[in-house]
Amino acid sequence: MTRSERERLLATVQSAIVESMDASHAIEQTVHLLKDNVPDYTWVGVYLLEGRELVLGPFVGKPSPHARIPLGRGICGAAAAEKATIVVDDVNADPRYLACSLETQSEIVVPILRDGDVLGEIDIDSDRRAAFGADDRALLEPIAALLAERLSEQRS
Ligand code: SME
Repeated sequence: MTRSERERLLATVQSAIVESMDASHAIEQTVHLLKDNVPDYTWVGVYLLEGRELVLGPFVGKPSPHARIPLGRGICGAAAAEKATIVVDDVNADPRYLACSLETQSEIVVPILRDGDVLGEIDIDSDRRAAFGADDRALLEPIAALLAERLSEQRS
């Protein structure tokens, strides 16, 4: 994906989030736009924090056996604990990894943070090894920030 394609996709997702009627619709649109526009994104989902567990919300891709992930488990749990994006180039070499599909080779998890609190995260798997890098962070971190705004609107 070229830089201008990525910038266009970011602008499209940002408008969809801002124009959605509520946070869950915004999340739904986000996962579909990302999955449909980035060939390397094989599985795209959003987990939301409920108590001490990450609970799977809207996703596109094969059903995951990990619908609920306790904090501290998996790459998802690690990203929530660290409150930072985690990129794993080779999931099979990472002992934290909870497998969703045998084809998955790499993963990125971007926390959705509001005032230092984790509200959830964007989780994306790829069937290609080392599929994620700085470009993906530059696409996904601003999206996570906007989702955080929509999610906190709903809470207030
Ligand atoms: N791989 C994640 C679990 C979620 S599935 O990929 C959808 C993890 O290790 O936390």
